[in-house]
Amino acid sequence: MNQRPVVEPGAAGAAEAGPGPGTGALRRPIVAANWKMNLGPSRAAAFFAAFRLGPNVSRVRLQFFVPAVSLAAARTAAKVAAEFGIQNVHWEREGALTGETSAEMAREAGVALALVGHSERRHVFGETDAEVARKTRAVSRAGLTPVVCVGERLEERRAGRLEEVLRRQVGAFVGALAGAKEWMVAYEPVWAIGTGETATPQDAFEAHEIVRAALGEAGPGPILYGGSVKPGNAAELLGVHGVDGVLVGGASLDPAEFAGIVAAAT
Ligand code: 13P
Repeated sequence: MNQRPVVEPGAAGAAEAGPGPGTGALRRPIVAANWKMNLGPSRAAAFFAAFRLGPNVSRVRLQFFVPAVSLAAARTAAKVAAEFGIQNVHWEREGALTGETSAEMAREAGVALALVGHSERRHVFGETDAEVARKTRAVSRAGLTPVVCVGERLEERRAGRLEEVLRRQVGAFVGALAGAKEWMVAYEPVWAIGTGETATPQDAFEAHEIVRAALGEAGPGPILYGGSVKPGNAAELLGVHGVDGVLVGGASLDPAEFAGIVAAAT
């Protein structure tokens, strides 16, 4: 494995991190909230009413992946400069597909980004690599930024299959990034999601190196880390070479906790 330092000098100054492959100097760190199936419209509005950010927040690129039904309320209530995203799309533009939402419809509703292939989509809803690729292509076609999620299960890591799994997952959608004006990838080890167990800086560094190498032909793009990110570990994770941002689940539901993570990134 690469011998470069795992942690950038001045870890909390991730905005100055790099240059490294895919880590542009002066790129703003990304702090993204994935609310999952939490916070309906009234609680989304209450979140933003209580969400207070400190100074230097313009140094961070702030994103919220909210439930589709909370989008309008969240956008109206947000007093901060933030981008909004949808958590899942179907690859068709429209049709007899009860319960689904297309990327084009999401864009019309004011969405700029879409999560694709989140661990829960893959493992709870059985989404395949091929479906992840189709969705990535659909999101790009609609002019939205795909944020494609990858990550290994604990048994895969223990079996020494980390690199194989990440290369397979990235290999399935990398060609679908070609039409995207912008894209991001989130590395979220399944064993760290919602468990309180976080990847060590070394784990995150190694996995991000693998993902970046697998993305090769797609060129540089931000790679986020996700999995039990909290105010207390965010600065350390954001200081890891090659970690361009964080994707936060549980801790993004509490305005003070999420503001603490944003503060750690500034
Ligand atoms: P937690 O931060 O709750 O572990 O969730 C991570 C995640 O899945 C973000 O997409």
